[in-house]
Amino acid sequence: MSDKPHLSKEYKLILVSEVDNPKGLKVGLIQINRPNALNALNTDVMTEILFALDGFDTDDEVGCSVLTGSEKAFAAGADIKEMADAAAIEMYAKDQFAVWDKMRKIKKPIVAAVSGFALGGGCEVTMMCDMIVAAECAKFGQPEINLGVIPGVGGTQRLAKAIGKARAMEMILTGKMFSAKEMFDAGLVSKVVSDESYLDEALNLAKDVASKPTITVQIAKQCILKSYDTSLEEGLEYERQSFYLLFASEDKFEGMKAFIEKRKPAWKGK
Ligand code: CAA
Repeated sequence: MSDKPHLSKEYKLILVSEVDNPKGLKVGLIQINRPNALNALNTDVMTEILFALDGFDTDDEVGCSVLTGSEKAFAAGADIKEMADAAAIEMYAKDQFAVWDKMRKIKKPIVAAVSGFALGGGCEVTMMCDMIVAAECAKFGQPEINLGVIPGVGGTQRLAKAIGKARAMEMILTGKMFSAKEMFDAGLVSKVVSDESYLDEALNLAKDVASKPTITVQIAKQCILKSYDTSLEEGLEYERQSFYLLFASEDKFEGMKAFIEKRKPAWKGK
């Protein structure tokens, strides 16, 4: 039994582990495990996911995480049954989706490994991850329109930025599902791979990231995310300050010294 709370906790709706990485730091693996509801994301599932992600974020042995579901479904959306009878003031008062927003604060990169349905809140969670590896059978969609609502955890904003206005409009206004290949062509997905290999491919991508200097990786992630909500001028300034900041890291000196000495760098993670 691990003494790390994010590994020893008795989760009810997710499976959590760390995967060894011969190339560098370990990879945190979170698997949504609610098969009877196609991994629908109720508040308890999201609370467990965020507990594990928070744990990996402060775990010095981990450099990157992978979030996945099952072969049939990454997640078929927010839990409709949890919301069906809810009234507006109740949703507002308990701020139903507040826990989802915490994903934005996770510093280490997260790779979504997607097979089957990634719908509604499921599709939105893949967009809160930093890279998406999709099995050929993956299906992405924002079907909220068919329920009389709209995406509520970032879909209208992140989709428009990721795939452009016209395609975001089509996805959200029709509620249709789109294939992994279509989403790759649109720029949402980093890689489409075979149905058998999507998890291994996602883990390999995460292992590559986890083999890089971890503070530098986190600062690079923050800079890219900054481009979402700032002007080019401010974003360039943020990038420049971050670049200079990294000259305070031991890994900057190690990386450049190792290049000149023609050897592999030995990252310290500080
Ligand atoms: N919430 C709650 N339960 C869900 C669910 C969801 N989002 N998606 C599937 N389930 C449940 C079904 O109710 C069913 O449970 P029962 O066996 O108890 O009836 C079980 O999972 C299996 O689902 P189906 O029988 O429907 O499976 P299927 O293979 O015939 O269809 C599907 C698959 C097309 C994905 C269909 O389940 C579906 O359309 N699901 C809903 C998708 C959706 O509308 N998602 C958006 C949710 S709202 C949202 O996410 C808002 C937001 O922005 C945060």
